[in-house]
Amino acid sequence: MTKAVCPGSFDPVTMGHLDIIERAARTFDEVVVAVMTNPRKAPLFTVEERVEMLREATQHIPNVTVTAADGLLVDFARKHGCKVIVKGLRPIQDFEYEWQMGAVNKQLDDEIETCFLMSRIEYAHLSSSIVRELAFFGCPTTGMVPPSTAQRLREKFAKPQA
Ligand code: PNS
Repeated sequence: MTKAVCPGSFDPVTMGHLDIIERAARTFDEVVVAVMTNPRKAPLFTVEERVEMLREATQHIPNVTVTAADGLLVDFARKHGCKVIVKGLRPIQDFEYEWQMGAVNKQLDDEIETCFLMSRIEYAHLSSSIVRELAFFGCPTTGMVPPSTAQRLREKFAKPQA
């Protein structure tokens, strides 16, 4: 039985993330989605909100669980018995950063493999930061994020009634 971890900050989850999680769930027996803190980013949503959004978005996938995680990814993977780290790779922009993280994780634990799934071309332009920016300007994010996430983005940026 092979268990994989899909790590990320998911701030918020996009349709691109969800596609990678669905494909990982078809490829591996069990998938743990780890909602992590990226020390380079200040989050819009709390970890609890991000976990809830991911649970809502993945409730149709029986072999996926979602959990918050802190500390090093390889420590989380070891603790949960995950032999594989699954990451999505969009054309060009992700490669350098993802390659570096994969190489560091490999040095930290040679028993854990990083597996990159190619982003679907229809989601290659999506990112959490673009989605946050659109929502900030009041633009609907329908089709870019799961429906319940789009609703939470609307609520997050709703203008207080005068
Ligand atoms: O969605 P993101 O922000 O690109 O995800 C990055 C994340 C959270 C997977 C990465 O920052 C991470 O692994 N954080 C945990 C700390 C860690 O293990 N760092 C060493 C790997 S370079």
